[in-house]
Amino acid sequence: MIGLCGRLRSAPDPLPNDRTPVEGKFMDDMATMIGGLSGFLDDKDIVTDRDDMAPFLTDWRGIFTGSAQAIVFPRSTEQVSALMAYAQTHNINIVPQGGNTGLVGGAIPDNTGSSVILSLSRMTAIRDFSEANNSMTVEAGCILQELHAYAEERGLYFPLNLAAKGSCTIGGNLATNAGGVNVVRYGNTRDLCLGLEVVLLGGRVMNLLTPLRKDNTGYDLKNLFIGSEGTLGIITAASMKLFALPKARSTALVGVPDIETAVTLLGKLQAASGDSVEAFELMPATLLKVVFKQFPDIPCPLTPLPEFMVLMEIASTNASDGQPNETGQIPIAETMEAFLADGFEAGQISDATLARNDIQRQQLWDIREHSPEATKRESTPVNTDVSVTRSQLQTFYDLAEKEVHKIHPTARVCAYGHLGDGNLHFNLIEADGGDPEWSEKRGALFEAIYRALAMVDGSISAEHGIGQMKVEQLKGVKDPVALDVMTTIKALFDPTGILNPGKVITTQD
Ligand code: FAD
Ligand code: LAC
Ligand code: ZN
Repeated sequence: MIGLCGRLRSAPDPLPNDRTPVEGKFMDDMATMIGGLSGFLDDKDIVTDRDDMAPFLTDWRGIFTGSAQAIVFPRSTEQVSALMAYAQTHNINIVPQGGNTGLVGGAIPDNTGSSVILSLSRMTAIRDFSEANNSMTVEAGCILQELHAYAEERGLYFPLNLAAKGSCTIGGNLATNAGGVNVVRYGNTRDLCLGLEVVLLGGRVMNLLTPLRKDNTGYDLKNLFIGSEGTLGIITAASMKLFALPKARSTALVGVPDIETAVTLLGKLQAASGDSVEAFELMPATLLKVVFKQFPDIPCPLTPLPEFMVLMEIASTNASDGQPNETGQIPIAETMEAFLADGFEAGQISDATLARNDIQRQQLWDIREHSPEATKRESTPVNTDVSVTRSQLQTFYDLAEKEVHKIHPTARVCAYGHLGDGNLHFNLIEADGGDPEWSEKRGALFEAIYRALAMVDGSISAEHGIGQMKVEQLKGVKDPVALDVMTTIKALFDPTGILNPGKVITTQD
């Protein structure tokens, strides 16, 4: 599956014909620049060929396409430092990129052709792994799934988990403060980070790379860079927290009548399982129909499909919780079964299926992990990444559905996501069989969702960031003083606006 295994480089959309890079203006400068870069990079780590650059110039959804003079692939912090010094001296726009799986266009340059993409993908060393400290220090280009495997082979667990894990990098995860499916138990990327190494414009290397658990020595600069989406500096390495490896799991797909009930069930499962809920993912029937249509090999576990389903997982680090006890029962499965029985009795659960082995568990997870790809194949979705308090989830859902259907009654609401964090991808897809009005209505549909979001004081970006997609929107929703402080911080680290220009915050206006 795309995004799970293997890099997302295989099928880039071509550059649109109407956006030819402005070659004339930069051809001479480019030769000089490439000459300059060759001073500290190997030739094979500088790419300028248009076809070779294409996969790095379009985002995963194919919404954003830009152009660049070159893509550079430093292999060390020293090389990043030299590049950042060169960029400042020669006033070159730098666009950092990891796995290019971001969903808000943050890693895609504009189409003026004036940027250089700085890809961290060849900085993949694991600098330190400490069982005693439950930490690992890794370079920015390490692929998330490879970090999972590395930690697990050594008996520990790195819990950050998202469907793009086969392609996204830890540097990109940090730069976006990524969330994913395990936030309900372990927090987002920020919560998992102990320290950072960051290269600033001009080339200075800021070493905050401590694995210390406590460090109150002044301002928390690490957290300024986490979630800054490449607009303040380049993350070259990070110390990340590790955890005890779960040895037993119980995974269930559960039919629920509505979102409010799902939220109630989350509280109950947390209490019943000793707060060991690792994932609690909402998926509506509209979404599952699309997943099974686009991926017919994935088995459908519940028929008829309930209106809403929750994929829930509890885990234990105690191996005996996954082994049959003296009565032949597996304790963690017993906990889940008792919870489900209680839910059936209370009328909160209408149907459920429990994974009995790893293959069945993976089949349930396949449904969730194929969801973004399935909706992309089905339609050009109206994608959002909103968050509200858990207690407002049902209210928001109802309001948004109403606003959407006022504008376009045939739009299919495919709101799925990380229920435990109040984070919904309240997405819309066009009617089955196509919709000639879809392109024309998309703008108004986005507005309808955000109108509903404003009524419950939600956030326009729960986990994907601002990138280039939400720059203008941010100005309308963020506190003006906070925006002003952000502008001041941006100007401090990047006075001439050459570090990932046009992303998160613009300093020109
Ligand atoms: P990129 O896309 O390359 O870059 C993202 C941003 O970070 C850009 O602004 C870029 O300039 C900056 N950046 C990258 N590396 C660095 C660096 N080393 N230093 C400074 N800036 C840098 N996101 C979630 O939060 N939760 C999900 O559940 C989730 N699921 C996804 C599922 C699919 C199928 C896909 C395609 C994406 C999903 N995403 C999800 C979005 C995406 O995977 C995350 O945002 C991820 O963290 C991006 O990592 P990346 O290495 O691909 O970064
Ligand atoms: C997910 C991405 C879209 O949760 O964030 O699947
Ligand atoms: Zn998500």
